[in-house]
Amino acid sequence: MSQTTWRELHYKEIDSTNLQAKRLAREWKAQAETSFRTGDRIEKTVITADSQTAGRGRLGRSWDSPAGSGLWMSLLFCPDLLPASASMLTLVAALAAAKGIEQTVSLKPQIKWPNDLVSDGKKICGILTEMHADLHQIEYVVVGIGINVTMTDFPPEIGQKATSLYLCSGQKADLDRLKKEILKAFDDFYEVFRQKGDLSLLKEAYEERLVSKGKQVRILSAASQTTGSGESGGGESAGGDGAAPGEWTGICLGISENGGLLIRKVDGETEEIVSGEVSVRGIYGYV
Ligand code: BTN
Repeated sequence: MSQTTWRELHYKEIDSTNLQAKRLAREWKAQAETSFRTGDRIEKTVITADSQTAGRGRLGRSWDSPAGSGLWMSLLFCPDLLPASASMLTLVAALAAAKGIEQTVSLKPQIKWPNDLVSDGKKICGILTEMHADLHQIEYVVVGIGINVTMTDFPPEIGQKATSLYLCSGQKADLDRLKKEILKAFDDFYEVFRQKGDLSLLKEAYEERLVSKGKQVRILSAASQTTGSGESGGGESAGGDGAAPGEWTGICLGISENGGLLIRKVDGETEEIVSGEVSVRGIYGYV
């Protein structure tokens, strides 16, 4: 990105850093004069909060964000990208968050495609990317990153699959240091990503962390996730592999240069699955 430093805005409490980023972007776009914008482009800005009262996760879920126990941050910027390429930013952000964590505590997070970070088979970080765009141009992107840093208690519905940096490493990461390491890593990975406008130069780094690489995975259609049981809407299992309706299984080969997940099906064909369309699970559980 052309500008070298991130503008930083911090709130003690906010509904959601993603929502605030979008409100600010709209405000800055509408103002005749503001130092937060050069021409039409909003300056790259990171918004953090001690706590979020309405933290948001993917697929309309909520994100538990108690005070001081996690890093709740949103990156707001204007990438030179076509709207169709924006989903790749989520994978860039996953790499950056993993590297930032690794630089801060003794932990090597893995990535559960496309953008969850996991450690000890449980989730430590989630990413929610949102954008404002017309057909041809992105006006701005908000990449929200939530990291469970010192949390030891989780709501019952996620208790089985969530953990924190503290529970995995025994270390209490400094939130400011963690934020700075992530921003630095994001700038570095974004620069590499920009060279080709795709993930071809980052594929190796991503696959090194990809938890399902080389493993058998279950692919769950959106319909089977909605019902929670795979019993309706999913139709036949695609691979003739004995999986429940609405799901199919295969071996994860890695990612494509566009960030899709490559799966070798039981019939030997390779299928590329696209972020948002499905969920990927290990054969025995979440990863
Ligand atoms: C997920 O469902 O895994 C994505 C979770 C993203 C949570 C972060 S916390 C900071 C930012 N603000 C939000 O409201 N959500 C994101």
